[in-house]
Amino acid sequence: MSSHATPIPMTSSACGPLSGVAEVPGDKSISHRSLILGAMCVGETTISGLLEGDDVLDTARAMRAFGADVTDLGGGNWSVHGVGVGGFAEPDGVIDCGNSGTGVRLIMGAMATSPITATFTGDASLNGRPMARVTDPLALFGTQAVGRKGGRLPMTIVGAAEPVPVRYVVPVPSAQVKSAVLLAGLNAPGKTVVIEAEATRDHTERMLAGFGAEIAVEDTDEGRVITLTGQPELQAQHVDVPRDPSSAAFPVCAALIVPGSDVLVPGIGLNPTRAGLFTTLREMGADLTYENERTEGGEPVADLRARFSPDMKGIEVPPARAASMIDEYPVLSVVASFAQGQTMMRGVKELRVKESDRIDAMAKGLRANGVEVEEGPDWWAVTGLGHGNVPGGATCASQLDHRIAMSFMIMGMAANAPVSVDDGAPITTSFPIFEPLMAQLGAKVTRGTA
Ligand code: S3P
Repeated sequence: MSSHATPIPMTSSACGPLSGVAEVPGDKSISHRSLILGAMCVGETTISGLLEGDDVLDTARAMRAFGADVTDLGGGNWSVHGVGVGGFAEPDGVIDCGNSGTGVRLIMGAMATSPITATFTGDASLNGRPMARVTDPLALFGTQAVGRKGGRLPMTIVGAAEPVPVRYVVPVPSAQVKSAVLLAGLNAPGKTVVIEAEATRDHTERMLAGFGAEIAVEDTDEGRVITLTGQPELQAQHVDVPRDPSSAAFPVCAALIVPGSDVLVPGIGLNPTRAGLFTTLREMGADLTYENERTEGGEPVADLRARFSPDMKGIEVPPARAASMIDEYPVLSVVASFAQGQTMMRGVKELRVKESDRIDAMAKGLRANGVEVEEGPDWWAVTGLGHGNVPGGATCASQLDHRIAMSFMIMGMAANAPVSVDDGAPITTSFPIFEPLMAQLGAKVTRGTA
Protein backbone atom coordinates (compact mmCIF):
# COMPACT_ATOMS: atom_id res chain seq x y z
CA MET A 1 0.00 0.00 0.00
CA SER A 2 1.24 3.44 -0.89
CA SER A 3 0.55 4.70 2.66
CA HIS A 4 3.92 3.47 3.93
CA ALA A 5 6.09 3.80 0.80
CA THR A 6 9.63 5.12 1.23
CA PRO A 7 10.26 8.28 -0.84
CA ILE A 8 12.03 7.59 -4.15
CA PRO A 9 13.67 10.74 -5.57
CA MET A 10 13.85 10.69 -9.39
CA THR A 11 15.55 12.77 -12.06
CA SER A 12 14.82 13.16 -15.74
CA SER A 13 17.42 14.55 -18.17
CA ALA A 14 17.40 15.66 -21.79
CA CYS A 15 17.44 12.69 -24.15
CA GLY A 16 17.65 11.88 -27.84
CA PRO A 17 14.50 11.29 -29.91
CA LEU A 18 11.88 9.09 -28.27
CA SER A 19 10.76 6.33 -30.58
CA GLY A 20 8.91 3.02 -30.57
CA VAL A 21 5.66 1.63 -29.28
CA ALA A 22 4.37 2.56 -25.83
CA GLU A 23 1.95 -0.05 -24.50
CA VAL A 24 0.45 1.70 -21.50
CA PRO A 25 -1.41 -0.24 -18.75
CA GLY A 26 -5.13 -0.73 -18.30
CA ASP A 27 -7.56 2.03 -17.49
CA LYS A 28 -7.63 2.87 -13.78
CA SER A 29 -11.29 3.93 -13.68
CA ILE A 30 -12.48 0.80 -15.49
CA SER A 31 -10.20 -1.45 -13.41
CA HIS A 32 -11.71 -0.26 -10.10
CA ARG A 33 -15.22 -0.65 -11.47
CA SER A 34 -14.54 -4.17 -12.83
CA LEU A 35 -13.52 -5.40 -9.39
CA ILE A 36 -16.37 -3.68 -7.57
CA LEU A 37 -19.09 -4.71 -10.03
CA GLY A 38 -17.60 -8.22 -10.20
CA ALA A 39 -17.91 -8.38 -6.40
CA MET A 40 -21.58 -7.36 -6.68
CA CYS A 41 -22.50 -10.27 -9.01
CA VAL A 42 -23.20 -13.86 -8.09
CA GLY A 43 -20.85 -16.08 -10.10
CA GLU A 44 -17.46 -15.53 -11.71
CA THR A 45 -16.38 -12.32 -13.44
CA THR A 46 -13.10 -12.57 -15.30
CA ILE A 47 -11.00 -9.49 -16.07
CA SER A 48 -8.15 -9.12 -18.54
CA GLY A 49 -5.84 -6.14 -18.82
CA LEU A 50 -6.49 -5.05 -15.22
CA LEU A 51 -4.26 -2.16 -14.11
CA GLU A 52 -2.06 -3.70 -11.40
CA GLY A 53 -1.21 -0.36 -9.80
CA ASP A 54 -1.38 0.19 -6.05
CA ASP A 55 -4.76 1.96 -6.22
CA VAL A 56 -6.46 -0.94 -7.94
CA LEU A 57 -4.68 -3.57 -5.79
CA ASP A 58 -6.05 -1.76 -2.72
CA THR A 59 -9.56 -2.07 -4.21
CA ALA A 60 -8.97 -5.79 -4.87
CA ARG A 61 -7.99 -6.26 -1.19
CA ALA A 62 -11.06 -4.27 -0.12
CA MET A 63 -13.38 -6.47 -2.18
CA ARG A 64 -11.91 -9.53 -0.47
CA ALA A 65 -12.57 -7.90 2.90
CA PHE A 66 -16.23 -7.46 1.90
CA GLY A 67 -16.49 -11.17 1.11
CA ALA A 68 -15.68 -11.53 -2.60
CA ASP A 69 -13.18 -14.12 -3.76
CA VAL A 70 -10.65 -12.16 -5.83
CA THR A 71 -7.80 -14.07 -7.50
CA ASP A 72 -4.80 -12.84 -9.46
CA LEU A 73 -4.44 -15.35 -12.32
CA GLY A 74 -1.26 -13.69 -13.62
CA GLY A 75 -0.54 -11.56 -16.69
CA GLY A 76 -3.24 -8.99 -15.93
CA ASN A 77 -5.95 -11.67 -15.74
CA TRP A 78 -8.11 -11.74 -12.63
CA SER A 79 -11.12 -13.65 -11.39
CA VAL A 80 -13.81 -12.34 -9.04
CA HIS A 81 -16.43 -14.59 -7.47
CA GLY A 82 -18.91 -12.04 -6.20
CA VAL A 83 -21.47 -12.03 -3.44
CA GLY A 84 -24.36 -10.36 -5.28
CA VAL A 85 -26.06 -6.96 -4.85
CA GLY A 86 -26.62 -6.45 -1.11
CA GLY A 87 -24.44 -9.45 -0.28
CA PHE A 88 -21.36 -7.72 1.16
CA ALA A 89 -20.05 -9.15 4.44
CA GLU A 90 -18.92 -6.82 7.22
CA PRO A 91 -15.12 -6.44 7.06
CA ASP A 92 -13.11 -7.59 10.10
CA GLY A 93 -10.59 -4.77 9.91
CA VAL A 94 -10.10 -1.24 8.61
CA ILE A 95 -10.25 -0.80 4.81
CA ASP A 96 -7.08 0.97 3.66
CA CYS A 97 -7.58 2.53 0.23
CA GLY A 98 -4.02 3.90 0.09
CA ASN A 99 -3.88 6.90 -2.27
CA SER A 100 -7.11 6.22 -4.11
CA GLY A 101 -10.04 8.66 -4.05
CA THR A 102 -11.81 6.61 -6.68
CA GLY A 103 -11.38 3.40 -4.69
CA VAL A 104 -12.66 4.75 -1.38
CA ARG A 105 -15.56 6.76 -2.81
CA LEU A 106 -16.85 3.99 -5.05
CA ILE A 107 -16.54 1.36 -2.32
CA MET A 108 -18.32 3.58 0.21
CA GLY A 109 -21.17 3.88 -2.29
CA ALA A 110 -21.24 0.15 -3.01
CA MET A 111 -21.52 -0.80 0.71
CA ALA A 112 -23.72 2.13 1.81
CA THR A 113 -27.04 0.37 1.32
CA SER A 114 -26.10 -2.91 3.04
CA PRO A 115 -26.67 -3.41 6.80
CA ILE A 116 -22.96 -3.48 7.63
CA THR A 117 -20.42 -1.09 9.10
CA ALA A 118 -16.96 -0.40 7.67
CA THR A 119 -14.13 1.96 8.55
CA PHE A 120 -12.00 3.47 5.79
CA THR A 121 -8.57 5.07 5.83
CA GLY A 122 -5.82 5.99 3.40
CA ASP A 123 -2.45 7.68 3.07
CA ALA A 124 -1.76 11.30 4.04
CA SER A 125 -3.02 12.52 0.67
CA LEU A 126 -6.30 10.59 0.77
CA ASN A 127 -6.90 11.40 4.45
CA GLY A 128 -6.81 15.09 3.52
CA ARG A 129 -9.40 14.86 0.75
CA PRO A 130 -13.09 15.83 1.10
CA MET A 131 -15.51 12.92 1.59
CA ALA A 132 -18.70 14.90 2.42
CA ARG A 133 -19.31 15.15 -1.31
CA VAL A 134 -20.02 11.40 -1.13
CA THR A 135 -21.42 10.99 2.39
CA ASP A 136 -23.97 13.82 1.90
CA PRO A 137 -25.83 12.04 -0.92
CA LEU A 138 -25.36 8.66 0.80
CA ALA A 139 -27.18 10.07 3.86
CA LEU A 140 -30.29 10.42 1.65
CA PHE A 141 -30.38 6.61 1.35
CA GLY A 142 -30.26 6.37 5.16
CA THR A 143 -26.51 5.78 5.44
CA GLN A 144 -24.59 7.27 8.39
CA ALA A 145 -20.99 8.47 8.34
CA VAL A 146 -18.67 9.53 11.14
CA GLY A 147 -15.31 10.95 10.13
CA ARG A 148 -12.73 13.49 11.15
CA LYS A 149 -13.25 17.26 11.04
CA GLY A 150 -14.23 18.49 7.58
CA GLY A 151 -15.53 15.07 6.57
CA ARG A 152 -12.06 13.54 6.27
CA LEU A 153 -10.87 9.94 6.61
CA PRO A 154 -10.51 7.83 8.69
CA MET A 155 -14.26 7.47 8.52
CA THR A 156 -16.82 4.88 9.53
CA ILE A 157 -19.82 4.22 7.31
CA VAL A 158 -22.91 2.56 8.76
CA GLY A 159 -24.86 1.14 5.84
CA ALA A 160 -28.62 1.73 5.61
CA ALA A 161 -30.56 -1.36 6.73
CA GLU A 162 -33.68 -0.20 4.88
CA PRO A 163 -32.43 2.06 2.10
CA VAL A 164 -34.76 4.28 0.12
CA PRO A 165 -34.05 5.34 -3.48
CA VAL A 166 -32.86 8.91 -4.01
CA ARG A 167 -32.93 11.70 -6.56
CA TYR A 168 -29.66 13.64 -6.45
CA VAL A 169 -28.28 16.58 -8.42
CA VAL A 170 -24.47 16.28 -8.26
CA PRO A 171 -23.21 19.74 -7.17
CA VAL A 172 -19.61 19.31 -8.48
CA PRO A 173 -18.51 17.73 -11.76
CA SER A 174 -17.38 14.39 -10.30
CA ALA A 175 -17.67 10.90 -11.74
CA GLN A 176 -16.70 9.52 -8.34
CA VAL A 177 -19.69 11.15 -6.64
CA LYS A 178 -22.06 10.16 -9.45
CA SER A 179 -20.75 6.59 -9.32
CA ALA A 180 -20.98 6.31 -5.52
CA VAL A 181 -24.67 7.28 -5.67
CA LEU A 182 -25.37 4.85 -8.52
CA LEU A 183 -23.60 1.97 -6.77
CA ALA A 184 -25.55 2.73 -3.58
CA GLY A 185 -28.74 2.82 -5.68
CA LEU A 186 -28.13 -0.78 -6.73
CA ASN A 187 -29.35 -2.07 -3.38
CA ALA A 188 -32.19 0.42 -2.87
CA PRO A 189 -35.66 -0.57 -4.05
CA GLY A 190 -37.19 1.53 -6.86
CA LYS A 191 -35.53 4.10 -9.07
CA THR A 192 -32.47 6.14 -8.08
CA VAL A 193 -31.98 9.25 -10.22
CA VAL A 194 -28.67 11.10 -10.53
CA ILE A 195 -28.45 14.36 -12.45
CA GLU A 196 -25.18 15.94 -13.54
CA ALA A 197 -25.06 19.40 -15.11
CA GLU A 198 -21.76 18.61 -16.85
CA ALA A 199 -21.02 15.21 -18.36
CA THR A 200 -18.23 13.39 -16.50
CA ARG A 201 -16.64 10.04 -17.41
CA ASP A 202 -19.48 7.59 -18.01
CA HIS A 203 -17.81 4.23 -17.33
CA THR A 204 -20.15 3.38 -14.43
CA GLU A 205 -23.26 3.90 -16.57
CA ARG A 206 -21.83 1.88 -19.47
CA MET A 207 -20.60 -0.92 -17.24
CA LEU A 208 -23.80 -1.13 -15.19
CA ALA A 209 -25.71 -1.58 -18.45
CA GLY A 210 -23.12 -4.18 -19.52
CA PHE A 211 -23.59 -6.07 -16.23
CA GLY A 212 -27.34 -6.21 -16.89
CA ALA A 213 -28.72 -3.38 -14.72
CA GLU A 214 -31.67 -1.35 -15.98
CA ILE A 215 -30.20 2.12 -16.49
CA ALA A 216 -31.39 4.96 -18.72
CA VAL A 217 -29.52 8.16 -19.59
CA GLU A 218 -31.33 11.20 -20.95
CA ASP A 219 -29.90 14.58 -21.97
CA THR A 220 -32.24 17.32 -20.71
CA ASP A 221 -32.05 21.09 -20.01
CA GLU A 222 -31.13 20.18 -16.42
CA GLY A 223 -28.22 18.05 -17.62
CA ARG A 224 -27.66 14.29 -17.94
CA VAL A 225 -30.41 12.48 -16.07
CA ILE A 226 -29.42 8.91 -15.13
CA THR A 227 -32.14 6.59 -13.87
CA LEU A 228 -31.18 3.27 -12.30
CA THR A 229 -33.67 0.61 -11.25
CA GLY A 230 -32.54 -0.88 -7.94
CA GLN A 231 -32.04 -4.46 -6.84
CA PRO A 232 -31.13 -6.01 -10.19
CA GLU A 233 -29.42 -9.35 -10.44
CA LEU A 234 -26.11 -8.36 -12.01
CA GLN A 235 -24.68 -10.81 -14.53
CA ALA A 236 -21.12 -12.00 -13.93
CA GLN A 237 -19.10 -11.74 -17.14
CA HIS A 238 -15.76 -11.04 -18.83
CA VAL A 239 -14.33 -7.51 -18.82
CA ASP A 240 -11.50 -6.60 -21.18
CA VAL A 241 -10.01 -3.41 -19.73
CA PRO A 242 -8.85 -0.94 -22.41
CA ARG A 243 -5.56 0.96 -22.05
CA ASP A 244 -5.72 4.16 -20.01
CA PRO A 245 -5.87 7.48 -21.95
CA SER A 246 -4.67 9.26 -18.79
CA SER A 247 -1.50 7.15 -18.79
CA ALA A 248 -1.14 7.47 -22.59
CA ALA A 249 -0.94 11.23 -21.99
CA PHE A 250 2.63 10.89 -20.64
CA PRO A 251 4.40 9.22 -23.60
CA VAL A 252 2.27 11.30 -26.00
CA CYS A 253 3.27 14.60 -24.37
CA ALA A 254 6.90 13.51 -24.07
CA ALA A 255 7.04 12.76 -27.81
CA LEU A 256 5.59 16.20 -28.63
CA ILE A 257 8.34 18.07 -26.75
CA VAL A 258 11.46 15.92 -27.32
CA PRO A 259 13.17 16.79 -30.66
CA GLY A 260 12.91 14.16 -33.38
CA SER A 261 10.46 11.91 -31.50
CA ASP A 262 7.92 9.60 -33.12
CA VAL A 263 5.97 7.38 -30.71
CA LEU A 264 3.00 5.07 -31.26
CA VAL A 265 0.65 4.50 -28.31
CA PRO A 266 -1.69 1.69 -29.40
CA GLY A 267 -5.22 0.84 -28.34
CA ILE A 268 -6.26 3.99 -26.49
CA GLY A 269 -9.92 4.60 -25.68
CA LEU A 270 -11.21 7.87 -27.13
CA ASN A 271 -14.47 7.94 -25.17
CA PRO A 272 -15.44 11.65 -25.46
CA THR A 273 -15.70 11.90 -21.65
CA ARG A 274 -11.95 11.10 -21.42
CA ALA A 275 -10.26 12.39 -24.57
CA GLY A 276 -10.21 16.17 -23.98
CA LEU A 277 -6.41 16.37 -23.71
CA PHE A 278 -5.86 14.98 -27.20
CA THR A 279 -8.33 17.51 -28.71
CA THR A 280 -6.55 20.30 -26.82
CA LEU A 281 -3.08 19.22 -27.97
CA ARG A 282 -4.27 19.12 -31.58
CA GLU A 283 -5.68 22.65 -31.20
CA MET A 284 -2.24 23.75 -29.96
CA GLY A 285 -0.73 22.45 -33.19
CA ALA A 286 0.54 19.07 -31.95
CA ASP A 287 1.41 16.47 -34.56
CA LEU A 288 -0.90 13.90 -32.98
CA THR A 289 -2.84 11.57 -35.23
CA TYR A 290 -5.37 8.81 -34.66
CA GLU A 291 -4.53 5.66 -36.61
CA ASN A 292 -6.54 2.48 -37.07
CA GLU A 293 -9.69 4.01 -35.57
CA ARG A 294 -12.11 1.28 -34.47
CA THR A 295 -14.76 0.33 -31.92
CA GLU A 296 -13.91 -2.12 -29.10
CA GLY A 297 -16.37 -3.15 -26.40
CA GLY A 298 -18.66 -0.32 -27.52
CA GLU A 299 -15.94 2.33 -27.06
CA PRO A 300 -14.10 4.30 -29.77
CA VAL A 301 -10.43 3.25 -29.80
CA ALA A 302 -7.41 4.33 -31.87
CA ASP A 303 -3.64 4.02 -31.98
CA LEU A 304 -2.17 7.44 -31.17
CA ARG A 305 0.86 8.61 -33.11
CA ALA A 306 2.71 11.56 -31.55
CA ARG A 307 5.64 13.29 -33.22
CA PHE A 308 7.89 16.14 -32.11
CA SER A 309 5.96 19.40 -32.54
CA PRO A 310 8.27 22.44 -32.24
CA ASP A 311 5.62 25.01 -33.24
CA MET A 312 2.85 24.48 -30.70
CA LYS A 313 0.95 27.61 -29.59
CA GLY A 314 -0.67 28.38 -26.25
CA ILE A 315 -4.47 28.35 -26.32
CA GLU A 316 -7.48 29.02 -24.11
CA VAL A 317 -8.77 25.60 -23.05
CA PRO A 318 -12.60 25.68 -23.09
CA PRO A 319 -13.94 25.24 -19.50
CA ALA A 320 -16.65 22.93 -20.88
CA ARG A 321 -13.86 20.48 -21.72
CA ALA A 322 -12.45 20.38 -18.18
CA ALA A 323 -14.21 17.20 -17.00
CA SER A 324 -12.99 15.24 -20.03
CA MET A 325 -9.33 15.99 -19.26
CA ILE A 326 -9.37 16.69 -15.53
CA ASP A 327 -6.44 14.37 -14.75
CA GLU A 328 -4.38 15.67 -17.69
CA TYR A 329 -3.96 19.36 -16.74
CA PRO A 330 -0.64 18.74 -14.96
CA VAL A 331 1.02 17.26 -18.04
CA LEU A 332 -0.72 19.78 -20.30
CA SER A 333 0.92 22.54 -18.27
CA VAL A 334 4.30 20.98 -19.08
CA VAL A 335 3.55 20.92 -22.82
CA ALA A 336 2.28 24.52 -22.48
CA SER A 337 5.70 25.52 -21.10
CA PHE A 338 7.29 24.41 -24.39
CA ALA A 339 4.62 26.10 -26.57
CA GLN A 340 4.70 29.73 -27.66
CA GLY A 341 2.44 32.11 -25.74
CA GLN A 342 -0.02 31.66 -22.93
CA THR A 343 -2.19 28.63 -22.22
CA MET A 344 -5.20 29.63 -20.13
CA MET A 345 -7.05 26.93 -18.17
CA ARG A 346 -10.34 28.00 -16.56
CA GLY A 347 -13.14 26.19 -14.72
CA VAL A 348 -10.70 23.82 -13.01
CA LYS A 349 -11.26 24.27 -9.26
CA GLU A 350 -11.61 20.48 -8.91
CA LEU A 351 -7.84 20.32 -9.52
CA ARG A 352 -7.38 21.73 -6.03
CA VAL A 353 -8.91 18.62 -4.35
CA LYS A 354 -7.18 15.82 -6.24
CA GLU A 355 -4.34 13.65 -4.84
CA SER A 356 -2.73 17.07 -4.25
CA ASP A 357 -3.77 20.65 -4.98
CA ARG A 358 -2.59 20.17 -8.54
CA ILE A 359 -2.59 23.85 -9.48
CA ASP A 360 -0.40 24.65 -6.48
CA ALA A 361 1.90 21.64 -7.00
CA MET A 362 2.45 22.33 -10.70
CA ALA A 363 2.70 26.12 -10.33
CA LYS A 364 5.42 25.79 -7.66
CA GLY A 365 7.41 23.25 -9.68
CA LEU A 366 7.04 25.05 -13.02
CA ARG A 367 8.14 28.36 -11.47
CA ALA A 368 11.14 26.67 -9.86
CA ASN A 369 12.08 25.44 -13.35
CA GLY A 370 11.86 28.93 -14.85
CA VAL A 371 8.31 28.99 -16.21
CA GLU A 372 5.86 31.79 -15.39
CA VAL A 373 2.51 30.68 -13.95
CA GLU A 374 -0.43 32.80 -12.79
CA GLU A 375 -3.27 31.29 -10.79
CA GLY A 376 -6.65 31.96 -9.18
CA PRO A 377 -9.10 29.77 -7.26
CA ASP A 378 -10.41 28.03 -10.39
CA TRP A 379 -7.99 29.00 -13.16
CA TRP A 380 -4.32 29.05 -14.01
CA ALA A 381 -2.24 30.23 -16.93
CA VAL A 382 1.17 29.09 -18.12
CA THR A 383 3.35 31.37 -20.25
CA GLY A 384 5.10 29.18 -22.77
CA LEU A 385 8.76 29.86 -23.51
CA GLY A 386 8.92 27.95 -26.79
CA HIS A 387 10.92 24.88 -27.71
CA GLY A 388 14.54 24.95 -26.44
CA ASN A 389 13.94 27.75 -23.95
CA VAL A 390 12.70 26.00 -20.80
CA PRO A 391 15.46 26.23 -18.16
CA GLY A 392 14.62 23.27 -15.85
CA GLY A 393 17.18 22.47 -13.14
CA ALA A 394 14.93 22.29 -10.07
CA THR A 395 13.72 19.60 -7.68
CA CYS A 396 9.93 19.62 -7.32
CA ALA A 397 7.69 18.28 -4.56
CA SER A 398 5.38 15.61 -5.91
CA GLN A 399 3.07 15.94 -2.88
CA LEU A 400 2.15 12.21 -2.88
CA ASP A 401 0.64 12.70 -6.34
CA HIS A 402 1.56 10.30 -9.17
CA ARG A 403 0.53 12.68 -11.94
CA ILE A 404 2.64 15.52 -10.53
CA ALA A 405 5.69 13.24 -10.33
CA MET A 406 5.26 11.94 -13.89
CA SER A 407 4.58 15.41 -15.31
CA PHE A 408 7.90 16.74 -13.99
CA MET A 409 9.70 13.67 -15.33
CA ILE A 410 8.27 14.51 -18.78
CA MET A 411 9.45 18.11 -18.38
CA GLY A 412 13.02 17.00 -17.68
CA MET A 413 13.17 15.15 -21.01
CA ALA A 414 13.15 18.42 -22.95
CA ALA A 415 14.29 21.11 -20.48
CA ASN A 416 17.80 22.62 -20.67
CA ALA A 417 18.79 21.16 -17.27
CA PRO A 418 17.58 17.98 -15.51
CA VAL A 419 14.35 18.11 -13.50
CA SER A 420 13.95 16.10 -10.28
CA VAL A 421 11.11 15.15 -7.97
CA ASP A 422 11.53 14.48 -4.26
CA ASP A 423 9.39 11.37 -4.48
CA GLY A 424 8.42 9.29 -7.49
CA ALA A 425 7.05 6.40 -5.36
CA PRO A 426 3.38 7.42 -5.98
CA ILE A 427 3.83 6.68 -9.71
CA THR A 428 3.08 3.01 -8.97
CA THR A 429 -0.49 3.93 -7.98
CA SER A 430 -1.51 4.29 -11.64
CA PHE A 431 1.47 3.56 -13.93
CA PRO A 432 3.72 0.89 -12.38
CA ILE A 433 5.71 0.40 -15.62
CA PHE A 434 6.35 4.13 -16.21
CA GLU A 435 10.13 3.94 -15.75
CA PRO A 436 10.86 0.88 -17.97
CA LEU A 437 8.36 2.02 -20.58
CA MET A 438 9.86 5.51 -20.88
CA ALA A 439 13.41 4.03 -20.85
CA GLN A 440 12.48 1.70 -23.71
CA LEU A 441 11.39 4.77 -25.74
CA GLY A 442 14.78 6.38 -25.05
CA ALA A 443 14.09 8.59 -22.02
CA LYS A 444 16.65 9.11 -19.25
CA VAL A 445 14.82 8.80 -15.94
CA THR A 446 17.05 7.80 -13.04
CA ARG A 447 16.63 7.28 -9.32
CA GLY A 448 18.03 10.04 -7.08
CA THR A 449 18.23 13.82 -7.44
CA ALA A 450 20.55 15.67 -9.86
C1 S3P B 1 -12.38 9.19 -11.58
C2 S3P B 1 -12.98 10.41 -11.58
C3 S3P B 1 -12.24 11.67 -11.49
C4 S3P B 1 -10.75 11.48 -11.76
C5 S3P B 1 -10.19 10.28 -11.07
C6 S3P B 1 -10.91 9.03 -11.54
C7 S3P B 1 -13.22 7.99 -11.67
O1 S3P B 1 -12.38 12.22 -10.20
O2 S3P B 1 -10.04 12.64 -11.36
O3 S3P B 1 -8.81 10.13 -11.33
O4 S3P B 1 -12.70 6.88 -11.96
O5 S3P B 1 -14.45 8.11 -11.47
P1 S3P B 1 -13.68 13.08 -9.76
O6 S3P B 1 -14.83 12.18 -9.74
O7 S3P B 1 -13.34 13.59 -8.38
O8 S3P B 1 -13.82 14.17 -10.74
